[in-house]
Amino acid sequence: MSNPIPENPDYIEYIESHKDEYEKDLFELLSIPSISSQTIHEADVARTAQWICDRLTSMNLDAQIVETTGHPAVFAQTKNPNPDLPTILFYGHYDVQPVDPLNLWKTPPFEPVINDGFIYARGASDDKGQMFTHILGPEAWYKTTGSMPVNVKYILEGDEESGGDAMDTFVRNNADLLACDCVVISDSQMFAPGRPAICYGLRGLAYVEVIYKGPNKDLHSGTFGGAITNPANALCKAIAGVHDDKYNVTFPGFYADVENIQLAEQERLAGLGIDETEFLASAGVTDSVGESGYTITERHWARPTFDVNGIISGYTGEGSKTVLPAVASAKMSCRLVPYQDPEKIVESIRQYFQDACPPGITMEFIVHSYTPAVIVDVNNPFVKAAAKTLEKAFGRSPEFTRDGGSIPIVSAFTEALNSPVLLLGWGQITDNIHSPNERFCLADFHRGIKASAILLKQLAGIEPKSAGKE
Ligand code: BES
Ligand code: MN
Ligand code: MN
Repeated sequence: MSNPIPENPDYIEYIESHKDEYEKDLFELLSIPSISSQTIHEADVARTAQWICDRLTSMNLDAQIVETTGHPAVFAQTKNPNPDLPTILFYGHYDVQPVDPLNLWKTPPFEPVINDGFIYARGASDDKGQMFTHILGPEAWYKTTGSMPVNVKYILEGDEESGGDAMDTFVRNNADLLACDCVVISDSQMFAPGRPAICYGLRGLAYVEVIYKGPNKDLHSGTFGGAITNPANALCKAIAGVHDDKYNVTFPGFYADVENIQLAEQERLAGLGIDETEFLASAGVTDSVGESGYTITERHWARPTFDVNGIISGYTGEGSKTVLPAVASAKMSCRLVPYQDPEKIVESIRQYFQDACPPGITMEFIVHSYTPAVIVDVNNPFVKAAAKTLEKAFGRSPEFTRDGGSIPIVSAFTEALNSPVLLLGWGQITDNIHSPNERFCLADFHRGIKASAILLKQLAGIEPKSAGKE
């Protein structure tokens, strides 16, 4: 069934003969520490944008750095686009997560290395490595034919990992500039090693921080303990109450807008044959608790959750110190599913922690970011073309999957651009994204480049939106 690469067109040969250069160039990109959430790396983030902009310029695209309310983004497009061809907009992010805890990295995060068929570096999989495939695929077309079979646009941002809304604002304010027939994003995961996926659902996110403040300084826990409310005790108690004994989330109205997973989808997900023991093992555990009545796959792809991301209070240094802390704080987030309204959820979290705040404690509440869940349409010619592409590039037809993570810009694309979005991830669940020793399968980097080039050809035959209108 899986017929390999088409009649060896030049661009495939070109890709196959440039593997070394591609790796060298990716290494260069991965060497720049573009951590968007840390001000000390501001210049590195800007330098990465410039690096990408130069590369896109060298492919004869009209490329520029564009200002946003956050870090600079890179926008590029075909010079003199052909109105008879569809326009494909590639999105990716060139910023990366912080690297701590640094001591757990086996090799330095910004000194990429190849080991056992994987490229190790921060951003290798999320998202520089995946994003770069969509620069190299179209570049191969340009280098071998002097043109591309479709019109392309790129919007590559440097704020995705820091959770701001800079790109959201940019997309909504620049819908004309970004107008396209289809958006292509590789910032998610394959179904399994060697098995490509088309993702049709991403969860949303509501990320907040709660600070409980008690006494005006840390106190002697003997002199004051029992008489003064301990903010750490209070916060832990509140957090413990977020889940009931069925592991349901107790924020008021949390499930009100959640659409139950339909039977057909339940069966489809079960039919994927995911080995849940293996999934747990990939995280280094043998068992887990979670919302009762749902499989593990449903729980992390299609059900809403609450998790503590970080918690700080009192004395955490060496040895013991008997104190009653003045302050306790926790960074917490909910993953959201379709129809949950992030603003309503944020409000309900605020209400819950306000109600749980006992006498003697005052609450401060910070909203870090929120974004809705998305489900993208898979019944359109672009998805069919993508499925064919993946079959050619990976030798296997794709599975249709959902993912538990969030790509905040997708909802802006679907709302402001009204174009289908293709989520074609080249990552693996074992890539250690956001963790120490992030990595990206070298073979998938090269297959991704091939897939990107083949995709252009497959999409070229689809009639553009604007056809016949002008
Ligand atoms: N690429 C990830 C999202 C992702 C991970 C999608 C795995 C599918 C599978 C993205 O860079 C990310 O980390 N997003 C954040 C969003 C947040 C910072 C607003 C997330 O999901 O936590
Ligand atoms: Mn990403
Ligand atoms: Mn990420």
